Amino acid sequence: MTDILEQLEARRTEARAGGGEKRIAAQHAKGKLTARERIEVLLDEGSFEEYDMFVAHRAVDFGMDKIKYPGDGVVTGWGTINGRLVYVYAQDFTVLGGSLSETHAAKICKIMDMAMKNGAPVIGLNDSGGARIQEGVASLGGYADVFQKNVLASGVVPQISVIMGPCAGGAVYSPAMTDFIFMVRDTSYMFVTGPDVVKTVTNEIVTAEELGGAKTHTTKSSVADGAFDNDVETLRQIRRLYDFLPLNNREKPPVRPFFDSPDREEPSLDTVIPDNPNQPYDMREVITKLADEGDFFEIQEDFAKNIICGFVRMEGQTVGVVANQPLVLAGVLDINSSRKAARFVRFCDAFSIPLLTLVDVPGFLPGTSQEYGGVIKHGAKLLFAYGEATVPKVTLITRKAYGGAYDVMASKHLRGDVNYAWPTAEIAVMGAKGAVEIIYRAELGDADKIAARTKEYEDRFANPFVAAEKGFIDDVIMPHATRKRLCRAFAMLRGKSLENPWKKHDNLPL
Ligand code: HXC
Repeated sequence: MTDILEQLEARRTEARAGGGEKRIAAQHAKGKLTARERIEVLLDEGSFEEYDMFVAHRAVDFGMDKIKYPGDGVVTGWGTINGRLVYVYAQDFTVLGGSLSETHAAKICKIMDMAMKNGAPVIGLNDSGGARIQEGVASLGGYADVFQKNVLASGVVPQISVIMGPCAGGAVYSPAMTDFIFMVRDTSYMFVTGPDVVKTVTNEIVTAEELGGAKTHTTKSSVADGAFDNDVETLRQIRRLYDFLPLNNREKPPVRPFFDSPDREEPSLDTVIPDNPNQPYDMREVITKLADEGDFFEIQEDFAKNIICGFVRMEGQTVGVVANQPLVLAGVLDINSSRKAARFVRFCDAFSIPLLTLVDVPGFLPGTSQEYGGVIKHGAKLLFAYGEATVPKVTLITRKAYGGAYDVMASKHLRGDVNYAWPTAEIAVMGAKGAVEIIYRAELGDADKIAARTKEYEDRFANPFVAAEKGFIDDVIMPHATRKRLCRAFAMLRGKSLENPWKKHDNLPL
């Protein structure tokens, strides 16, 4: 009996050794943790249960019959984050470069099936040279099996991808289909074809970092939702994000203890809107002043900064915030901000996370680059996302709500449940100057007349009361009392039940 126990221990030790000391040292030398070390940082201490530690590949070509590593380059299983269940896989770069074989893929698929069946998120830690070259099509099939699971799990359980090394070729498409992608600065990259192929095909000379590093994907492509400085910081931030999310699409988001009174008044909000309507202010400041303990987890912080998306808590309950940012492009809606916010709204709606929309928007950005780029279709994504969302929707107009953008930003007409405005709100088809230039074109030569017309238009529309008289705004509220009013609104909406008509699925403008 002792022999057998020792045998088990010896087998476990062998599996835990991954690709061996030399390769582990090489991994550390790059500033990267090993797969098992990463899992230790990500999960609660001692909570990890590993599965398939002894699984080995079945390939025989190219000498593979002589190279076997128990676990086959990926560590899979489940554990907890602050006591809540999570499934996890971590590719082990020290074993055949973390490359994906048929059996490696089967291990990932197994925990994804369990995640869907048992209703808990999947976090994938990616660090891989891609398809196991020696296995050929078997490996490609393995990827497709993972892709199919990603599709089926989408909207059922949250899926989070963390890119912690190479992620190239078709391998990028599994993370791309998950809800969030986070990257580690300087040590991770993602691209469909690497710098060598790019050079051959397009003559462009580019480094891996420029082509697919964290900066590229958080600022230019928007493929990634965030980036952090190193493995430990990244994994700690994933734990923070996890605390905001529900486990699955049948559960409500977690309600956590809070130490910030819902009645807290915030007098500084009474003066946050500048007297000059063309002067910007920082909407992020408004968000943190409204949130429990000022805690805000931002998504895509460095992309389309004219809109802010992220998670806060109000009375301990997770709330998804979408807010125009007057500091950047006056908070205008354009292609990138519409896409960014639409995806966020759809995530929140899929996982029962109530939405808070803070509006200060001068309209959609004009111009040929926007029109040629398809702002009509992209803007429609956000409109569609808000229109189909059935979660509680609370909207606050702080200042401008002009034109189509007024409709889009969770207006009453798109089934906004509670629509508030500050006294500084201006709800109109457009700004007074533009409006007068159109409707009084004949008087344009007379500056005094135009000034009088502009004043008349401002007096009529540069306020929230016309909309309030129509019931499009439920109440005009004091800025300092906003936290209390929003907390009460979300509390009132906790039992909301609304269903869209049956359909196989909608046809979101893509
Ligand atoms: C088998 C691989 C491998 C792979 C790396 N290794 N990638 N083994 N299949 N795809 C092995 C190496 O042989 C080496 O083994 C170990 O992993 C570490 O690799 P190094 O090259 O020494 O590491 P490094 O210098 O850090 O370079 C990492 C790398 C490079 C940039 C990822 O290994 C690389 O270019 N790999 C090939 C990438 C690739 O073309 N993959 C296929 C993409 S196509 P030893 O024994 O020496 O430690 C694809 C299609 C998916 O993935 C399609 C889905 C639809």
